[in-house]
Amino acid sequence: MSDTTYAPAADFAAKAHIDAAKYEEMYAASIKDPAAFWGEHGKRIDWIKPYTKVKDVDYSFGNVSIKWYEDGTLNVSANCIDRHLTTRGDQTAIIWEPDDPNEPAQHISYKELYAQTCKMANVLKSMGVGKGDRVVLYLPMIPEAAYAMLACARIGAIHSIVFAGFSPDALGARVNGCDAKVVITADTAPRGGKATKLKDNVNQALLNDFDEVKCLVVKRTGDQIAWRDGLDYWLHEEAEKVDVDCPPEEMNAEDPLFILYTSGSTGMPKGVVHTTGGYLVYAAMTHELVFDYHEGDIYWCTADVGWVTGHSYIVYGPLANGATTLMFEGVPTYPDASRFWQVCEKHKVNQFYTAPTAIRALMGQGNDYVTKCDLSSVRILGTVGEPINPEAWNWYNDVVGGGRCPIVDTWWQTETGGHLMTPLPGATAAKPGSCCGPFFGIEPVVLEPTTGEIIEGNGVEGVLCMKDSWPGQMRTVWGDHERFMKTYFADYKGYYFTGDGCRRDEDGYYWITGRVDDVINVSGHRMGTAEVESALVAHSKVSEAAVVGYPHDIKGQGIYCYVTLMGGEEYTDELKTELRNWVRTEIGPIASPDLIQWAPGLPKTRSGKIMRRILRKIAENDYGSLGDTSTLAEPAVVDDLIENRMNRG
Ligand code: WTA
Repeated sequence: MSDTTYAPAADFAAKAHIDAAKYEEMYAASIKDPAAFWGEHGKRIDWIKPYTKVKDVDYSFGNVSIKWYEDGTLNVSANCIDRHLTTRGDQTAIIWEPDDPNEPAQHISYKELYAQTCKMANVLKSMGVGKGDRVVLYLPMIPEAAYAMLACARIGAIHSIVFAGFSPDALGARVNGCDAKVVITADTAPRGGKATKLKDNVNQALLNDFDEVKCLVVKRTGDQIAWRDGLDYWLHEEAEKVDVDCPPEEMNAEDPLFILYTSGSTGMPKGVVHTTGGYLVYAAMTHELVFDYHEGDIYWCTADVGWVTGHSYIVYGPLANGATTLMFEGVPTYPDASRFWQVCEKHKVNQFYTAPTAIRALMGQGNDYVTKCDLSSVRILGTVGEPINPEAWNWYNDVVGGGRCPIVDTWWQTETGGHLMTPLPGATAAKPGSCCGPFFGIEPVVLEPTTGEIIEGNGVEGVLCMKDSWPGQMRTVWGDHERFMKTYFADYKGYYFTGDGCRRDEDGYYWITGRVDDVINVSGHRMGTAEVESALVAHSKVSEAAVVGYPHDIKGQGIYCYVTLMGGEEYTDELKTELRNWVRTEIGPIASPDLIQWAPGLPKTRSGKIMRRILRKIAENDYGSLGDTSTLAEPAVVDDLIENRMNRG
């Protein structure tokens, strides 16, 4: 950890939307009277019927209810498109950079975005999709992903994006989970020079029990695909049959905008529900102020639309602000480790937002890949998804930013809709590795983990909770409000529990110490250990499995699996490979186990609970602090595991 601070340069701060004094003043106002503050800032978007009520929030357990702008009506796609048409119809809304650098980039104007979105909205209508219906998107990073999101928003349908790296099984579970009417996909998706067979995956996902689910297919590559007659539709063919105008549906502020499945500490992923008004206000305001977005800037977030970062900071936030947002289909290392920086140079990117895992991977390739590109357009750098180690922060600052670009380390979650803690580039003296402090309206508290008491003062550590609501907060778990309340409001009554631990240092800066639950963060992607365990035990040779995270140089955390086999099965290297591939097919390549250790037995309490604390320590090679093992049913299994671990090398 480093305590050097990096204050914004005076000339930078002078041109920024928010400087240090303005931050103090606005933050104080936002906490003193949230309804007045958000009532004012809600006006940044267009309402069909203006709200008269701003905030109605009840955090009491058993009764959790969160409403913002509840009597207002609006349409998100009209806010992201129509309202810009008179002032910036010809301005580029989306720059699309394909996987292959030799394929031309596309510049999609706001007018074009309007036409494409309306057409897709009308196609969806012609397929029987209406207000409140669910549509699953399983798409690569192509402009049609943004059209599809906005088309759903336009007609009041609720989208649920499934990251294109998820397997057919994981996709099927999510289609089922929200009872989707239509899946939108592409034939195949080029990424890093390889093609993923998206449509084939959809066919496999929909093979059983889904004969009602229609599929709308974007022709991306023209590769051959299997077609389900009567259920599958080509977008380009259907789009020719429909009108180029589609009136936006009038939606209530609290109507759901999207569902996004995310991993939790127990059970299968849950459908996080975000609603219309508060989400858009929050995404737009954080996008503008955290990235200090100014008219005419070219903004690039390298996330995938399959994650929340892509929702809030590639599509909704930037487009609500009338920005130019770059969508990149490829990966940072294809054709080589210079690609990110070449794209920055080619499109004269001003704000660049990526994940620490990418920074660490590129840092390992050497500086030449960066320094050979002209990065003089870049003004602000951002990171998201996991704690950034000071070494990576410094490299990002010195080599990529040339020491002139403020770095915003944005801490937030799928559940929060937008940034909750982050420096503001013109206001905050940043510390490498710290997400610094709260955005407007956010009241972080550090609680003592067991008693739930607030820990006041600085130089303290505990679990991170939020004292009050903000407009972008999730409202419920799709179809399971009880689970929503249990997950976020039961452990610490009266607070939103983030699942993260944190330290507040002597200067009041926040440092995220990682998840305190059974969620691991692999390359900035959340993975529930329970999901990987249930995939492993679904294999016929596996009797038990326990999964923990362990420190990984590039990924932040790696997936460490302890596996016990059925009696009579042999522990072999081939079986390890088989199990690794098995998890990839059950969930997807992002869940691929990094290390599998054979375990003759697992450390359990006498009541049968697996002691993950011990497994984590062994995975970390930290045998000195295993703690009390005397409560274990069979303390000897720990010695066996340590021995196996050491032999593994
Ligand atoms: C972690 C991603 C440290 C954290 C937007 C959180 C971070 C989880 C940061 C949410 C950061 C995200 N510093 N940790 N700047 N950003 N995290 O839902 O553990 O995919 O709870 O949302 O990622 O992951 P999610």
